[in-house]
Amino acid sequence: MSLHTDIRRVRAEFDDRLKAVQARLAAGLDGSEHAEQLRIDFLGRKGAVAGLFAGLGALSPKERPAAGQQLNALKEAIAGAVSDLQPGPSQEDRPSAPQLDLTLPGDPIPLGSTHPVTQIESKIKNIFARIGFSIYYGPEVETEFYNFEALNFQADHPARDMQDTFYLSKDLLLRTHTSNNQIHAMEAMKPPLRIIMPGRVFRNEAINARSHCQFHQIEGLVVDRQVSMAELKGTMTHFARELYGPDTRTRFRPSYFPFTEPSAEMDIYWGLETDRDHRITKGTGWLEILGCGMVHPNVFKAVDLDPLKWTGYAFGMGLERMAMLKWGIGDIRLFFEGDLRFLRQF
Ligand code: PHE
Repeated sequence: MSLHTDIRRVRAEFDDRLKAVQARLAAGLDGSEHAEQLRIDFLGRKGAVAGLFAGLGALSPKERPAAGQQLNALKEAIAGAVSDLQPGPSQEDRPSAPQLDLTLPGDPIPLGSTHPVTQIESKIKNIFARIGFSIYYGPEVETEFYNFEALNFQADHPARDMQDTFYLSKDLLLRTHTSNNQIHAMEAMKPPLRIIMPGRVFRNEAINARSHCQFHQIEGLVVDRQVSMAELKGTMTHFARELYGPDTRTRFRPSYFPFTEPSAEMDIYWGLETDRDHRITKGTGWLEILGCGMVHPNVFKAVDLDPLKWTGYAFGMGLERMAMLKWGIGDIRLFFEGDLRFLRQF
């Protein structure tokens, strides 16, 4: 093949010229012009190597790749040899390094921050972890059994209505509260239990500043022998003081949930100093922060635990509400919009 011969010829010519330049340098003569001419003659735009590359087009497509590789190898070898000829820049003519001002502040690295709901969630998890609670997670897509039936909701309970619950099919729905996890936990683990269960819940509500179709709750469940209402009150009060400060006052009002009996809501005393205090406490100074109660015997029966043997309490609270109170956030929609102007403040 003639390309082979051409390559060999160019290579031989180059080697001869290279030797001549090397000899000049070895004799202590200035060789830089000769080295530059060598580079131009072989690697320049109209040089010998470029000439060989131009011949590639005449080859058949089958021969072209192998020939191309050989030419590339030749070009690299020549380029390497030429650059070895060039002495490194001497100390004097090395271009001066750009002036570095080491006192300038660096470029800021943008850091994310933890979402306010996540912050509240981990605060609450930590408070309960310190008094022996562990954490349990359950599904967001649920059946009527776990979300309602096992929790002692009668078939005609209004919460089951399509108006309040997102149904995915006849039996599948998006959980309306984290209480579904009470059932999963009691099925999965043997009592005694002492757990909290955080998660997202969904309700078919019109979205406005005060309510949203999705929000987060933390559920709590304790199951043991001879658990008392006094223990429930003591634990909830301890929790409120850990979260809102040691002087926090609490009160329990009777309430109703199908899955607890008796049931209560816990309020904390918020105060009545500012207009905002008046507004959010509706003029009473008290704020409701959670629902709770003693586990209903029918709930124990639904998971095959003997209600004569086992006792327990449960509680549940909304995390967005907690975050809104803590930071004075006036609109629940902000939590779900991902607006950096909002998120950067936390
Ligand atoms: N599941 C109730 C709610 O969504 C809260 C609750 C939990 C009440 C546990 C009592 C016990 O409002």
